[in-house]
Amino acid sequence: MKGNFDHFMKKEIHEQPDAIQQTMRGRVVFDADGNVQRVFLGGMVDYLSTIRRSRRIILCGCGTSYNSAIAVRQLMEELTELPVTLELASDVLDRQCPFFRDDSIIFISQSGETADTLRALEYAKSKGALCIGIVNVVGSAISRATDCGLHINAGAEIGVASTKAYTCQITSMVLLALALSEDSRSRADRRMDIMRGVVTLPDTMRRALELDQKMLALARTLVDENSLLLFGRGYNYATALEGALKVKEVALLHSEGILAGEMKHGPLALVDETLPLVVIATRDSSYLKQKSVIEQLRARDARCILIVSEDDDSLDKFASNEDMIIKVPEVCDCLQPLINIVPLQLLSYHLTVLRGHNVDQPRNLAKSVTVE
Ligand code: UD1
Ligand code: M6R
Repeated sequence: MKGNFDHFMKKEIHEQPDAIQQTMRGRVVFDADGNVQRVFLGGMVDYLSTIRRSRRIILCGCGTSYNSAIAVRQLMEELTELPVTLELASDVLDRQCPFFRDDSIIFISQSGETADTLRALEYAKSKGALCIGIVNVVGSAISRATDCGLHINAGAEIGVASTKAYTCQITSMVLLALALSEDSRSRADRRMDIMRGVVTLPDTMRRALELDQKMLALARTLVDENSLLLFGRGYNYATALEGALKVKEVALLHSEGILAGEMKHGPLALVDETLPLVVIATRDSSYLKQKSVIEQLRARDARCILIVSEDDDSLDKFASNEDMIIKVPEVCDCLQPLINIVPLQLLSYHLTVLRGHNVDQPRNLAKSVTVE
């Protein structure tokens, strides 16, 4: 089952190019010359106009599935021009969230069985909202109980740490956002750029996976640390949160993902010359702000590990040594989180093995959390 891999987590990280290909199969349509033309979502066609007419879109899930919602929020807002809000599933019932008949609520779950997400879905249905599923397991409770949805088709995910489901969830929701904006002429060029980026994702991700040995070398330098902070913003705020979740969940190392814009509002007090920090600074509209964050951190002699675009040498001087600069292949801005998470998944995997912890079955955790 694990093939040539020692652990399911490693296998599933390396399966991501093929898994994303499966997510796209039959949904990205090409013309006779092989050029990408449009997105077609068979299970959603009857519902797209209702979603377009809704008052807002709400994305709801737990853990990694919630992080995938954060990753696509900005694009979904841009392409649909609707307000897009986020809800942690457990909080929906705690707060008795105001949900309405004209809300479209997207429930994201790898297993399709997570109790908190399922309860939030039942609550949303009782309020008359349109409920949409982004689910991996066909026939699961959430897949069955939603009005419509998209199976992410990532294949079975065995490792407790979610890896390929995360990138396939993001890909599925990017496809949904593209389908929702198909009527908009003014967004045709932007949609085409994104679709061209989507079809190159499997190859781009294969190149990102070549960072494996580099991340092993980095893990060796971090193995005895007690804490790791990750700073991201914009499309890559989710990358910081998801990277931190992976590190704490499997490597059992305290880690926090921080919105870089919040740095001066508290986290900066933690920064000294010993605490390792990861800053995600690939090229997008947040790049200059992230560059300034790096300069401020380095002015305090911080130990900065930088994730940057592969042809960007301008930040090399800010990393303490060459192990600390990670160059990732570049894709369309809104797809970059799919690539940037790969080195962080690999880092958390290697840290776990080096620290001698159980990779596929971290202590106290279950793959599917079926009790509230
Ligand atoms: C479907 C088939 C797929 C086939 C393809 C060919 C299934 C499960 N999928 O894929 O095998 O190759 O047609 O056209 O038979 N749904 C929900 N909630 C969810 C997820 C999905 O209600 O969380 C619904 C969808 O709205 C749809 C159905 O389940 O009605 C199947 O969804 P999906 O597998 O994503 O649809 P297709 O990609 O069309
Ligand atoms: O099956 P789900 O996607 O609903 O699970 C949600 C979370 O329990 C899950 O993503 C959890 O956070 C993972 N173990 C993270 O790797």
